[in-house]
Amino acid sequence: MPDVTYQFPEGFLWGTATAAHQVEGGNTNNNWYAWENTPGKIFNEQKSGLACDWWNGRWKEDLENAERDGQNAHRFSIEWSRIQPGPNRWDESALDFYKDLLKGMRRMGLAPVVTLHHFSDPLWIYEMGGWENDKTPEFFEQFVRKVVDALKGEVKIWVTLNEPNGLVINSYIDGCFPPGKKDFRAAFAALTNLIRGHALAYHAIHEIQTDAMAGYALYYRGFFPKRDWSPLDHWVTGMLKKNVNDLFATAIHDGQVKLIIFNALVKEAIGTQDFIGLQYYSSDEVSFNLSKPGELFANREHPKGVPVSPTGFIADFPQGMAQALKWAHQFRLPIYVTENGVEDAEDQMRPAYLLRHLREVWLAANFNWQVKGYFHWSQVDNFEWERGWSQRFGLWELDPKTQKRTRRKSAEIYEAICKENGISSETVRRLAPEVFSELFPGKFNSMTSLQKRQDKTYPNYTLNKWPKI
Ligand code: BGC
Repeated sequence: MPDVTYQFPEGFLWGTATAAHQVEGGNTNNNWYAWENTPGKIFNEQKSGLACDWWNGRWKEDLENAERDGQNAHRFSIEWSRIQPGPNRWDESALDFYKDLLKGMRRMGLAPVVTLHHFSDPLWIYEMGGWENDKTPEFFEQFVRKVVDALKGEVKIWVTLNEPNGLVINSYIDGCFPPGKKDFRAAFAALTNLIRGHALAYHAIHEIQTDAMAGYALYYRGFFPKRDWSPLDHWVTGMLKKNVNDLFATAIHDGQVKLIIFNALVKEAIGTQDFIGLQYYSSDEVSFNLSKPGELFANREHPKGVPVSPTGFIADFPQGMAQALKWAHQFRLPIYVTENGVEDAEDQMRPAYLLRHLREVWLAANFNWQVKGYFHWSQVDNFEWERGWSQRFGLWELDPKTQKRTRRKSAEIYEAICKENGISSETVRRLAPEVFSELFPGKFNSMTSLQKRQDKTYPNYTLNKWPKI
């Protein structure tokens, strides 16, 4: 018997998330294939290649592992370029692949969450200007109609777009994603069209399937002022929150699309979300820096003194997850954490990262915020976009050459959590003793110190339930 369990609500969805181009392999008709074949764009010129070989059927192996590991849901995406290889061409056999996948998931008891756009565009869309082209939202809508019509019997929860805000930043501001631009005007055009695309998709989904739930998945970055006393640090932190985290939410609230000095109205976007898909990985401490106008005068660093992942990509800062959840709660809609994870080939940092972030998710659920599920990124190591194979996010390790899967310790921890529908002191003591005293710091002390931190993070809420002791 564990002494204490952070128990999650009944019916909570526990899963992992994947994306078509990252796991399927053999996607040669999209913008990422073109990007991978352009010298200098991907880490060490690596290619997605076979990826995790899902297209040849290895999804079964990974999802059976997920099932055995106690998961009850999985989030994956549909590759647009497979379904619609050309403007007027549809490939029914590609739809059959996804039907089989969904049937397989049903057999395994994995509830599907299906993403309709996860970063990759068909080559023909890319050649017509991608999301900068005002016609792309209508093309996207056609594709969505085709897919939803074919798969509506198997899917309830649809994610229209994965991280449209992240996509705009990477593709049009940082330039690390195709088309590799650094151009605010192009960024604004793409953002507006993504919002239109989302709105058209949302309305189409509801027209075709009355019992569907639709929303988009937001890239949420935690931003915290470096010097609490500095009004300029607070100001620049606020600017980042607005221009990174709030972009889509504002448009869905009142139709206003705003990016720095640009603005537009997309009325059809108002009210187009049934849930919040929240994706949180890391946070920055932000300070004002006059010499960085291209970065909105912001200097960003990992929060001081916290563990950082092997390639320096992610800081283990669960307060950012708390900030993200609090942000999401303002909409009073169901919240699904559609991604969260860390790159860590040796699985040194992941166990603590996973547990510390999940404790924040538990806390939010305990306030009766509508947190309905958590999807870890990812089930198995996969192709990490411009970072190629240099980062390993899987609960399971993959050798892309041999396709051999090896279970990491984190998979065992996650299994215990999924099966207990909670985080028990026994699991943490046994599998992640390094984080035990932080998660379960001792009876009365734990209550007061935890309570103090929670009161600071969530000033307007009080706990309605303490874990059983
Ligand atoms: C993306 C995933 C990606 C993950 C880790 C998220 O922003 O949605 O596709 O693999 O981050 O880099």
